[in-house]
Amino acid sequence: MNLIIRPRRLRRSEAIREMVRENHLNPADFIYPLFIHEKDYKEEISAMPGIYRWDIAGLVKEVFRAWDLGIRCVVLFPKIDNSLKTEDGSECFNEAGLIPKAIRMLKKEIPEMAIMTDVALDPYSCDGHDGLVDDNGKILNDETIEVLKKQSIIQARAGADFIGPSDMMDGRVGAIRSALDLEGFSDVGIISYTAKFSSAYYGPFRTALDSAPKKNNKKIIPDNKSTYQMDPANSKEALIEAALDQYEGADILMVKPGVSYLDIVYRISNFTNKPLAAYNVSGEYSMVKAAALKNWIDEKDIVLETLLSFKRAGAKLILTYHACDASKWLKEK
Ligand code: PBG
Repeated sequence: MNLIIRPRRLRRSEAIREMVRENHLNPADFIYPLFIHEKDYKEEISAMPGIYRWDIAGLVKEVFRAWDLGIRCVVLFPKIDNSLKTEDGSECFNEAGLIPKAIRMLKKEIPEMAIMTDVALDPYSCDGHDGLVDDNGKILNDETIEVLKKQSIIQARAGADFIGPSDMMDGRVGAIRSALDLEGFSDVGIISYTAKFSSAYYGPFRTALDSAPKKNNKKIIPDNKSTYQMDPANSKEALIEAALDQYEGADILMVKPGVSYLDIVYRISNFTNKPLAAYNVSGEYSMVKAAALKNWIDEKDIVLETLLSFKRAGAKLILTYHACDASKWLKEK
């Protein structure tokens, strides 16, 4: 055949494929989510094989392991004892609480590792919502923001490098930015959950922290988060959220979940010049793990291909429970 253009010429050998490869994965692209609890042993999360709730000493070791693999940022999530959960989530202000304690310990032992936190009330609230719930089951926006500002300050004071508001209240990025600046934390950044969808893919995470919306005999509790997290049917709305977070001072934007929302990653990456992150969430992890344990898929190839798809869609950073395994596999390559 007389073909002038033969794309296969650039696929002939691994050397040539490497020459023209457009996207690469690097351990420094990963942000590693870690669960912690108030016990002195680690406990595997049943719906997330290979992922644990760590005690503080175990956490420190795991973070050293991640650092040695090339990972440069971790994000911490606390499993708070039920006895400490209240309607106002006030345990999140406790300077001696689990998260401030873990941050201080990590900053002492391995100060180079960047630490991101999660700002929202769900791990601390007996109602299991990210915001305050009134007697009629309404999630209160502006009142919640006052609490989130305080929570952010506590985390910054403990040594957090990035505050990660995951609550989806309107105006929280700007409010947290001003609160941080006012307290002298102008160097502390914000990685905002910009387009966070109301998704069933968070299921395993909610069992890990026991943080799902719960019944409360005193009042009505909505059993889902649809009045604040985004409708999975929408994409233009994600651009409004991105514009707001950027304008309000977010340093890094994020899309969540990941795999089913790569169109949103692509759209926002075309819109913003800020670094963009995507969250390869718990349900995505669990599905891959379950199929891998049954030997139905090749875990390593599936994971690396999935993570690469985030880069191709335009994300610079990927929050992923596969962070350590993937970094190891990249080293072996
Ligand atoms: C809490 C929060 C959630 C996740 C991160 N922060 C759950 C939720 O919004 O219900 C989910 C992470 C995952 O599924 O891996 N605001």
